[in-house]
Amino acid sequence: MPGLKDPPVVIEGARLRLRRSTPDDALPTFRCAAHAEVMKHLDWPAQRSPAEARTYLEGCEQRWRAGTEFHWVIELKPAGAAVAATAAALDSAGMVGSIACRVHGHAADFGYLLAHAAWGHGFGTEAAALLMGWLQRQPEIVRIWATTDIDNTRSARVLEKLGLAREGVMRKATVRPQLATGPRDTVLYAWVREDPRPAV
Ligand SMILES: CC(C)(COP(=O)(O)OP(=O)(O)OC[C@H]1O[C@@H](n2cnc3c(N)ncnc32)[C@H](O)[C@@H]1OP(=O)(O)O)[C@@H](O)C(=O)NCCC(=O)NCCS
Repeated sequence: MPGLKDPPVVIEGARLRLRRSTPDDALPTFRCAAHAEVMKHLDWPAQRSPAEARTYLEGCEQRWRAGTEFHWVIELKPAGAAVAATAAALDSAGMVGSIACRVHGHAADFGYLLAHAAWGHGFGTEAAALLMGWLQRQPEIVRIWATTDIDNTRSARVLEKLGLAREGVMRKATVRPQLATGPRDTVLYAWVREDPRPAV
């Protein structure tokens, strides 16, 4: 089974598939993020063109090779495409979003986004559960964490449904360039592997 040194290129779910991104995913990547509601709570500036998306994905490719960050596109499988009008609303070869994680020793953090047309069908939770499932199967990983803007209630709900606990608010921790110039409060969520009970 692929470990942290060799993350899976594909993670299959029931309705979704996570597939390692390549620079050739630039156009659908740009389209997925090209919506004010999608970008609103994120901590990076909106991409202005498919060319900028390609540059970002080239960076993802380098970071995957370096082992510092792993980035997958989220694709709809037939069972996912059958849900609502999502597939019709997207013309991006089944890609509906992206998800990434970074590993720092015993801990990993992750983030995700979905095209606006794909919201509200449980896809965000399903994609994050696929990534969490892989991370949880890595014995070295004992902590998995994510952050959201204080007002990003939809993402907070996804993290709660995944079983991450709300650890607290990091005050004025993160600049969200689409929302404000100054730093905003950020909520920290985490899952930890409980220590096994000692034998008695
Ligand atoms: C966060 C995101 C991936 C969620 O995707 P999604 O597929 O719509 O999420 P799900 O359908 O799995 O779950 C959303 C949950 O939020 C709930 N929700 C929706 N709108 C809400 C609101 N305004 N307030 C509170 N909860 C809300 C839904 O009811 C659902 O919970 P439920 O299953 O208990 O009913 C998507 O909204 C997105 O891409 N947002 C922009 C990027 C982003 O914020 N990424 C996260 C950065 S930390």
